[in-house]
Amino acid sequence: MITLTVDALEPNMIVAEPVVTKRGQVLIKAGDKLTPQMIAKLTFYKIESANVEEPEPEEIPEPEQEVETETKPEKKESPSKEAYVSNQITYTQRLKASPKFQKFQSDYALNLTTLKEDFKIIIAGGGAECIDSMLKNCEALFKSKTALELLDMLGNMRNLEDPLYCHSLNVALISRCIGKWLQMPREDLNILTLAGLLHDIGKTQIPESILNKPGKYTDEEYATMKSHPVLGKKLLNDKGFDPRILYAALQHHERSDGSGYPRGLEEDEIDDFASIVAIADVYDAMTSARAHRDPLCSFQVINQFEQEGLKKFNTKYILTFLEHIANTYNNSRIMLNNAKTGRVVYINKSNLSRPVVQMDTGDIINLADSAFNDLYIKSIL
Ligand SMILES: [Fe+2]
Repeated sequence: MITLTVDALEPNMIVAEPVVTKRGQVLIKAGDKLTPQMIAKLTFYKIESANVEEPEPEEIPEPEQEVETETKPEKKESPSKEAYVSNQITYTQRLKASPKFQKFQSDYALNLTTLKEDFKIIIAGGGAECIDSMLKNCEALFKSKTALELLDMLGNMRNLEDPLYCHSLNVALISRCIGKWLQMPREDLNILTLAGLLHDIGKTQIPESILNKPGKYTDEEYATMKSHPVLGKKLLNDKGFDPRILYAALQHHERSDGSGYPRGLEEDEIDDFASIVAIADVYDAMTSARAHRDPLCSFQVINQFEQEGLKKFNTKYILTFLEHIANTYNNSRIMLNNAKTGRVVYINKSNLSRPVVQMDTGDIINLADSAFNDLYIKSIL
């Protein structure tokens, strides 16, 4: 029998001793085979560890092919806790199995339906009377969740129909997270959430054949696409919306270095809320699954922003955003691109996507050190 922390448990392990809550409620009986739902239940009840039967050595699969090939002979030992890691249920799988996520999924689907209705009302000439219902609907999604939990859940809500509505909802929630990190008052958070919800409403005026075109746009089509910020502001004009909501619709494709559209504004000319919505907009696009790739892991997203994005976004907001994301993954279990696993032990402030990691072998690797340029964090486990 061995004791494993809950995050090291995996389906099909046999529970060796009953798992009981502090109040004595038996959650899992001895002899039960673990399922993802059971593991989620343990997380839900904040159980820290469980005793499981030690699997037979032959049940442990060979590790995935590793990039590094070492010639020293492998020692055949009985499997340690760390040996399970390469095979353990991933962070995403655990998240998806949690009751919180399942509730989130149904609230999210409901939100999409009502958001569509609200868009219709606005397009038909309605306006600020939708505000209360839009905010109320969103509330269920961010209630009793940390910003990180919310971002993680959003990252797993892809592959749905209605990309425009999903994106609008995601941008609203991500913008709200940023607002919270900036310690905005509640009224501002609400305006920011609405700004995110409505930022792309102009896309409803773009012909579907262009909006959903799978391949590359022609110059003409691209010009049509780029008209959506102006069309969005027109739809929202003179309807009693807070001006910051209108600015977000109009300016969310403007970039601090003047490279954006429609007007090529620079940082101090772009409204604060539009700047925040712009970051949420790009983050959502990066973390969405695409036909040609899986969603990027958070450290890769941070890396992309660091590589290409810092000058394009408002410095204060982008740094707050990236620092919070990086810090929330401090102490997370990770896998590098060479398939070796370890834990993030220190976030480098000047190189957020390349923290210091302690490998399961005990080695400490500072990914910011040029000696480790070939390595990067591939996934969070
Ligand atoms: Fe847009």
